[in-house]
Amino acid sequence: MLALPDFPWDRLVPYQDLARAHPGGMVDLSVGTPVDPVPPVAREALAAAADSPGYPLTYGTPRLREAAAGWLRRRHGVTVDPSDVLPTIGSKELVAWLPTLLGVRPGERVVFPELAYPTYDVGARLAGAEPYATDGLLALGPERVPLVWVNSPSNPTGRVLPAEHLRKVVAWARERGAIVASDECYIELGWEEHPVSVLHPDVCEGSHENLLAVHSLSKRSNFAGYRAGFVAGDPRLVRRLLEVRKHAGMMMPAPVQAATAAVLDDDAHADEQRERYARRRAVLRPALERAGWRVEHSAAGLYLWATDGTGCWDQVRALAERGILVAPGEFYGGAGRGHVRIAITATDERVDAAVSRLQ
Ligand SMILES: Cc1ncc(COP(=O)(O)O)c(C=O)c1O
Repeated sequence: MLALPDFPWDRLVPYQDLARAHPGGMVDLSVGTPVDPVPPVAREALAAAADSPGYPLTYGTPRLREAAAGWLRRRHGVTVDPSDVLPTIGSKELVAWLPTLLGVRPGERVVFPELAYPTYDVGARLAGAEPYATDGLLALGPERVPLVWVNSPSNPTGRVLPAEHLRKVVAWARERGAIVASDECYIELGWEEHPVSVLHPDVCEGSHENLLAVHSLSKRSNFAGYRAGFVAGDPRLVRRLLEVRKHAGMMMPAPVQAATAAVLDDDAHADEQRERYARRRAVLRPALERAGWRVEHSAAGLYLWATDGTGCWDQVRALAERGILVAPGEFYGGAGRGHVRIAITATDERVDAAVSRLQ
């Protein structure tokens, strides 16, 4: 049997019970799941495409791929041909299966950030490869690796990698023939800093060779329940992924394809959602700081990466005693032992409750 990491969330259950016992009820800031409504533009498109008896295209409808390319151009200054876009069933499945789909071989090392979304590690293991968490590519020396993940803005830290940093990663990878997969699911949620795509000319210097950008509609459009994302970039890699995914039946349902195209074409709902998160962040961050917590990085995305100087589990307990549930930094790698991840994905009412409990 494949050795997979323990699913760590079970360890949070006692703290969940503690937080639930608070007279004002629990404020759950432990997960980044959207809580606001699915935008009407999506529901209408989904309903209009409800009569979809035939198999959907693994490649996605031309309308969906054009909408994705249009969004990348309009919002992120990235030019891709619609033929170099491939829909995915949310982005988690692609993160988990990318090493396998690309033919990474047992024993090879898949590189990802030291503090990271746990699925990069899982994806390496599913391919029989070696997960390797590091922020220092130079430590790899002359070793050739097949795949390097970057994630900006980061889950869990909210750190943004500037174009110059990403350019160095791309140059390093190109020298070794490595593929760079850039998980950009929080790209529209820059606060103090402006996230840039790996496919932007300032990073890739005009060539998408060996580059893949991975996108998700979950956060931008409150779409986590619809399961919609896409991957775009190097035409050769996109073709290869398409070929394998066709054989494997990895296709986005047709009504979801229609709804995804509709939300990618519409910026108004995304701006509205961004404003909701901006407001929640604007009250929660200073409340934490006033209560003696230090917030680090967190310049973008949906999380505050915070510490009160004690160990992460002590911090989880201290907040659970106030009825606030957060995630211990350890879930994202050993380097997170002194931090907690606090999501801003709760309703205004719950965020305000957290603010008053922190006073
Ligand atoms: C860094 C990162 N990548 C990928 C995902 C997966 O998102 P989804 O599968 O909803 O697109 C998440 C979800 O929280 C995430 O934080």
